Amino acid sequence: ICSGQMEQLIPVVNKLQDVFGAIGQSPIDLPQIVTIGSQSSGKSSVLENVVGKGFLPRGTGIVTRRPLVLQLYNTSNHSVPVSPGSISSSLRSPGLDDVDEETNPAEEEEADENSNLNMHTPPESKPKRKSKVSADASPVVLPGDEWGEFLHLPGEKFYSFDEIRDEIVRETDRSTGRNKGISNKSINLKIYSPRVLNLTLVDLPGITKVSVGDQPIDIEDQIREMCLHYISNPNAIILAVTAGNTDLANSDALKMARSVDPEGNRTIGVLTKLDLMDPGTDASEMLNNRVIPLRRGYVGVINRGQRDISQKRSIREGLKKEMEFFKNHPAYRSLSHRCGTSTLSKMLNSILMHHIRDCLPEIKNRITGMMADIQQELDALGTPTGDISRATLGGSLLSLLSKFAASFGNAVDGKGSSAD
Ligand code: GDP
Ligand code: NA
Ligand code: MG
Repeated sequence: ICSGQMEQLIPVVNKLQDVFGAIGQSPIDLPQIVTIGSQSSGKSSVLENVVGKGFLPRGTGIVTRRPLVLQLYNTSNHSVPVSPGSISSSLRSPGLDDVDEETNPAEEEEADENSNLNMHTPPESKPKRKSKVSADASPVVLPGDEWGEFLHLPGEKFYSFDEIRDEIVRETDRSTGRNKGISNKSINLKIYSPRVLNLTLVDLPGITKVSVGDQPIDIEDQIREMCLHYISNPNAIILAVTAGNTDLANSDALKMARSVDPEGNRTIGVLTKLDLMDPGTDASEMLNNRVIPLRRGYVGVINRGQRDISQKRSIREGLKKEMEFFKNHPAYRSLSHRCGTSTLSKMLNSILMHHIRDCLPEIKNRITGMMADIQQELDALGTPTGDISRATLGGSLLSLLSKFAASFGNAVDGKGSSAD
């Protein structure tokens, strides 16, 4: 499932960011991926599938009640920032609290195939961390070199995705109460791993029309404000999620996306729940971009249903089922380029690659300017001294950039969104 392009991007982005660090420039600002849509349309499920890890609270009703800002942080050739207090604070032992959680042994393996944004672990380098729990109930545990850390619990490392999910639920309750209240105060979670691209994903509460429980009367406006805040960022890629078994013309996601991105340059339509459509109907008209056309078009996906969640079906199983469904369905067989989580990941990869490529000329100009300055200084001094290493660094960066740009053309054109 995982497309190799993304893997190739990790060292390149890291290298670029290292050199920027060395010459005192800010790193490439990669786009944020933001999901919006109606309540229970499948936003959290889509994000989980894209990351390839199950750690977001999902379910019917209002589950996501605060924005979750998920930052993936690549540790492979950067030093990991040490947060204050991390030495003294408790280091969570993997899976220790997961005893009562019935978990699927396959879940631990799911990283290998399903990590579409490279949250995955090459089998040979994966240190198996087993918990003290019984052998047939192995919880979802991150390998030792991958962990999560919340902004509100600095220094506390979470090595288990189940524990991460539990903490998101606890922290949601902490500021919003248990009775369906909402808050625009974000929960910030960082995942450190040598196998992720530095990227930010945002999971948002869904649009609801009628307030329930402790919700304010104007809940619809409040959530809308919250979503607009994130999707107005010109650097945000909007995943406008609509359930396939609802009417596209009623889509909150599309309406909101259109208000901040009228050209549709950074909006991808995501149709979920294609497995739940009324028998005899299908989404082919929508997927063919004929109903409400979007510049980048739509992709249809099938996430794990509520029963799958209750039965702890792994992401891997879910994606397999999804693939089978599309392969065997008469309406979708010819639409494979518009169907599936893997297609969505390819579209995202392609957008990220274009983004990086578009940044290159500007970066090149900055470096060229910097080199000219240094040359001038050197000329004034008469002898090559101090800053020569920076000039050399600039030179090698320039050659790196041109190689990168040259190889980019092929990579970008070959794959990805056919709408682009
Ligand atoms: P959110 O509220 O938009 O974040 O939606 P969730 O991801 O929490 O999903 C809401 C419910 O719909 C959960 O019970 C999911 O299991 C279910 N669900 C989401 N996507 C699909 C899908 O494609 N097919 C099926 N059958 N169920 C889905
Ligand atoms: Na929900
Ligand atoms: Mg959600």
